[in-house]
Amino acid sequence: MAQDDKKPSGPDLTTGIASTELADGQMLRGLVGEDEVLLVRQGGTVHAIGAHCTHYHGPLAEGLVVSNTIRCPWHHACFDLRTGEALAAPALSPVACWNVEERDGKIIVGAKKTTAAAKPAGSTSDHFVIVGGGAAGFAAAEMLRRRGFAGTITMLSDDSAAPVDRPNLSKDYLAGSAPEDWVPLRGNDWYAENKIDLRLKTAVASIDAKAKELTLGDGGKVKFDKLLLATGAEPVKLDIPGADHKHVHTLRSLADSRSIIAQAGNGKRAVVIGASFIGLEVAASLRVREVEVHVVAPEQRPLERVFGPQLGDFVRALHEEHGVKFHLEDSVIGIGESDVTLKSGGTLPADLVVIGVGVRPRVSLAEKAGLAIDKGVSCNEYLETSAPDIFVAGDIARYPDPISGERIRVEHWVVAERQGQIAARNMLGEHVPYRSPPFFWSQHYDVPINYVGHAEKWDKIEMDGDPMKRDCVARYVRGGKTLAVASIYRDLDSLKAAAEMEKRAGPGP
Ligand SMILES: Cc1cc2nc3c(=O)[nH]c(=O)nc-3n(C[C@H](O)[C@H](O)[C@H](O)COP(=O)(O)OP(=O)(O)OC[C@H]3O[C@@H](n4cnc5c(N)ncnc54)[C@H](O)[C@@H]3O)c2cc1C
Ligand code: FES
Repeated sequence: MAQDDKKPSGPDLTTGIASTELADGQMLRGLVGEDEVLLVRQGGTVHAIGAHCTHYHGPLAEGLVVSNTIRCPWHHACFDLRTGEALAAPALSPVACWNVEERDGKIIVGAKKTTAAAKPAGSTSDHFVIVGGGAAGFAAAEMLRRRGFAGTITMLSDDSAAPVDRPNLSKDYLAGSAPEDWVPLRGNDWYAENKIDLRLKTAVASIDAKAKELTLGDGGKVKFDKLLLATGAEPVKLDIPGADHKHVHTLRSLADSRSIIAQAGNGKRAVVIGASFIGLEVAASLRVREVEVHVVAPEQRPLERVFGPQLGDFVRALHEEHGVKFHLEDSVIGIGESDVTLKSGGTLPADLVVIGVGVRPRVSLAEKAGLAIDKGVSCNEYLETSAPDIFVAGDIARYPDPISGERIRVEHWVVAERQGQIAARNMLGEHVPYRSPPFFWSQHYDVPINYVGHAEKWDKIEMDGDPMKRDCVARYVRGGKTLAVASIYRDLDSLKAAAEMEKRAGPGP
């Protein structure tokens, strides 16, 4: 992800600006010492807040103010203007806030505000267990501590790595433009400092929902008072000859990404099976590494099922511009030591094969425990499963979406994190509904595509702008209602669409 690296500039806000320079609803960037600060006048009050998002440094001045919050233009993180708290992921850390005074026709920024410690919540004897060290599990643990949970937190993950920024694994990290120390969501010290007992390489084998006890893969037992299930999804494997060769990969974990990188160094020819988001992001990252890339997929157009034909054609053209060769309406029927065989006949050279044909939610634990399952783990709007004190979040959760009126399960980073945050608050008894519109982004070379809402089917797509010019908004409309909005470099439209959907969904947390 590109960073906003412009040199900070603007008026010195400690000496002040004229009040008339900032009308209601407006924003203005200035400096407080070395810090770039954003002034926002909202409903008569002036707020001073750090100018950059704590996720990937997005410029908040290009975002949207909604009531007492500001939303980041890049991936829709939401911050409280009064406290700087990161209310909704993907940002998890607060932005700094400053005291502001308005007197004698001037706005003057004073000292940095200090963050008040959260009031203790829950009992010190409570034991909350999180199964899954991914987006939802991590965000839940962070939120429990942020809201002052006084009890014990155990996080069990069968991964060998502590929670990572998974979207990076197919993007900058895989492309070689982000160092590995960008990948962990937090350093190892963070878990100790926050008294989170993170146990890696620890598989949970079964759950006894009545006895409130987990059995681990090694036979160990763990009791819980409340449990969050956040086991995510796993890549679908292909049942074709040669799929078990060493140079054939799927991509979910840091270890997967590392082994693709290791192979990309030796192999100069790759075949990506599947024109999915992950498949295409891998293709883009391998092209940055100057690997020859062929994409083989059964569909007519990449990503057409999600984006429709016009954006699908754009995605294809964009990849072709960067040298990717598509073999669409085709499939791989066998993988050899250094080539793959196509159904249409013929072979493609391949020192490296990446399979990106979708994922399957990891619901077997929940299923064996007798929880209600419906193509995912069923839950209500409070993310409660059918078993008392067992919550669910992330890729495995099938939840009621107030915008479409349907029960949906989505595989998006931001949704998983936000559900983890809401589940954590409900574990603390706050009883807050999950009502955020789904949001995801995907990055192909220098082109980010943002998508808000959820539309499995639509009557029409209203296109404003031109994808080929990298400037467009596509609205997916069914029964006269806009269900989803995809955009390229139209961040404000995307934020406005999300705010509009939030209004339709009714009051959230
Ligand atoms: C390479 C890649 C790129 C992506 N890019 C994007 C993107 O750009 N935008 C976007 O919106 N989404 C993206 N996604 C999807 C996004 O990462 C997922 O939606 C998100 O990670 C789901 O979070 P989760 O917590 O449900 O699951 P995960 O993050 O997968 O975490 C699940 C955790 O559970 C653990 N686990 C599972 N079963 C057990 C068990 N029995 N015992 C113990 N531990 C267990 C796993 O090891 C893992 O730690 C991407 C995914 C991948 C793989
Ligand atoms: S940079 Fe702000 S949400 Fe990602």
